[in-house]
Amino acid sequence: MSLIYVLNGPNLNLLGKRQPHIYGHETLADVEASCRRLASELGHELRFHQSNREYEIIDWIHEARENGAGIVINPAAFTHTSLAILDALNTFEGPVIEIHISNVHKRESFRHHSFVSHRADGVIAGLGTEGYQLGIRRVATMLKTPKND
Ligand code: DQA
Repeated sequence: MSLIYVLNGPNLNLLGKRQPHIYGHETLADVEASCRRLASELGHELRFHQSNREYEIIDWIHEARENGAGIVINPAAFTHTSLAILDALNTFEGPVIEIHISNVHKRESFRHHSFVSHRADGVIAGLGTEGYQLGIRRVATMLKTPKND
């Protein structure tokens, strides 16, 4: 059994209330519950966090360096601004999947660039909150697969 971190950036605490036409009606607690179900089905442990503060996300990535096997991250607006989160992810050796609930490429041009994508092994965007499930599944697959496959 390995430990997967699911990390969420700013304003995602308002999921379900915030711009539901873009982000849907599910709350972050709903997303957490479905992530926990899936992780346990796949035989993995899960840490699920959200913060509006960049340093807390960096600290969780450092924690994952010590005890985590993979990271699924929706950095929210920090995606487009945070070299510090990219640097932190570059210190982590396991699989990293970046997810966005909305299709950032269909939106404003300032959402088209992602610092985190420079490190992510895969990026999921525009598949709604299902992206979290897909991200966890991909991390689980990568954890089973030797690095050179
Ligand atoms: C987001 C997309 C970002 O551009 C935005 O700042 C968010 C959420 C998404 O999940 O679609 O807060 O990461």
